[in-house]
Amino acid sequence: MNSLDFTRLRKRFELQSPKSRINIVLFSVEDGNVILFSKNSQEDHMSFLKSNNPIGNVGEFFSNKNNLYVSIGKHKMTGIESNYPIAMRTDTMRAMKSLYINLKRFNKSEIVFEDCQLVEDAIFGLITTSYKYDFLKKSNEEEYSFFLNAPKYTKTMEIAHHQNIARFLGDTPANLMTPRLFVEYARKIFEGSSNVEIHEYKKDFMEEKGMNLLLSVNQGSVEEPRLLQIRYSGKKQDSTDISMVGKGVCFDSGGISIKPSPNMYRMKGDMMGAATLLCSLKLAVIMNLNSNIVLTIPLVENMPSGTATKPGDVFKSMSGITVEVDNTDAEGRLILADALTLAQQDNPSYLIDAATLTGAITISLGSVYAGFFTEDDELANEIQRCGVESNDLFWRMPLSSFYRDAMKSQVADINNMGGRGAGSCKAAEFLKEFVDTKKTKWVHFDIAGMIDDNYIPEIYGEGMTGKPVRGFINLIEKLTVKKE
Ligand code: BES
Ligand code: ZN
Ligand code: ZN
Repeated sequence: MNSLDFTRLRKRFELQSPKSRINIVLFSVEDGNVILFSKNSQEDHMSFLKSNNPIGNVGEFFSNKNNLYVSIGKHKMTGIESNYPIAMRTDTMRAMKSLYINLKRFNKSEIVFEDCQLVEDAIFGLITTSYKYDFLKKSNEEEYSFFLNAPKYTKTMEIAHHQNIARFLGDTPANLMTPRLFVEYARKIFEGSSNVEIHEYKKDFMEEKGMNLLLSVNQGSVEEPRLLQIRYSGKKQDSTDISMVGKGVCFDSGGISIKPSPNMYRMKGDMMGAATLLCSLKLAVIMNLNSNIVLTIPLVENMPSGTATKPGDVFKSMSGITVEVDNTDAEGRLILADALTLAQQDNPSYLIDAATLTGAITISLGSVYAGFFTEDDELANEIQRCGVESNDLFWRMPLSSFYRDAMKSQVADINNMGGRGAGSCKAAEFLKEFVDTKKTKWVHFDIAGMIDDNYIPEIYGEGMTGKPVRGFINLIEKLTVKKE
């Protein structure tokens, strides 16, 4: 099969030579009163809407010749325009899903939004709710396409489109998204980008560097591992500002510690740490950020076979620390450990990793929040703020030497497992073992909960959400500005 044309995802918003235009006006209803989100021509809109007696349910809509009025639900106004509550912003995205479905009927080919504070969420919602993974069906019905005319909001549009690309990478089945193919897609995503270097390393490089933890995870697979490094030089100095590491397990069967069959297919998305950071880096390039950023992605398949790692096997990491692999399903921390060691060779100011690391984070936080771990309080506050701003929520989790104590090994320096309880914290503590937190500000994101099974299924539907691309690029941007 040829590689899949994911660029089709955004084409439906970029119709050439549109013929008829429609203006989208958002409204809400509070205690029976209509509230308009619009900066001009309030009176006309208001009298039209009132004559229709709107109830205000999410997605309720009315239209006249030039306007389409969409309700974002019944909400209490806080009065602070720049600080709308998350529930209201999420409802705005929900409303966009029904708008997208209804737009077809109006037969208009150019969409403009009446300017207001919620437009960013609306545009973001319109693009992300329209996502559909139908690349592998014999006939995929022709999608309704139009021109989304919002020149003030190109950044938001790019973020939404790139979140959709991240979803595409995770939704594509593992036989079509092997480590080798992931690199091919990454090349396509960065095609034509300037100030970007792409390095693709193979097994011999990993052997030379002593990345035995990384190699150990892939040794049961017939696919070859890859190590992808993408360097973006956004400024002249050659110091590295941000080094990022994304977990790229293209399929996680669990290995010899094999996972149960029900839902095992979901593990085709065990590379979403890699995918979300890859798309966030592309956004940093598009935004031309004044920053030097390196992204390191270890790409493997975790499979059982005669050559696979056996529970109890010991490997020496690139850093020299030896690891007993008690459970071959705790593979993410192994590939990240070696990748983090490599990433620190650039002496980055910030070290950020993202991974679908533990099922336990879903037990703690569900799909609503991603967990993050850092020793740096200032960075933690920044992350929390970025999350709220981007509607990708982040919750700080604890690091503690007590968790480290649980991972003692009889035969090696550390065990990759630590018994029952606090699975996400132990995984984070394991990673910390490989990070020099005195030299770099490190944060680990465990995004396993929010990649799918979303708390707002009406928005993201089945499959991957692509979260938290919006939060990540916001953080990268904030850290860049901070350093300037
Ligand atoms: N890839 C999984 C974590 C995961 C679970 C991601 C559900 C997305 C959805 C990870 O490699 C894993 O299997 N972790 C184990 C660790 C355990 C063996 C210590 C887990 O969470 O059970
Ligand atoms: Zn696993
Ligand atoms: Zn995994």
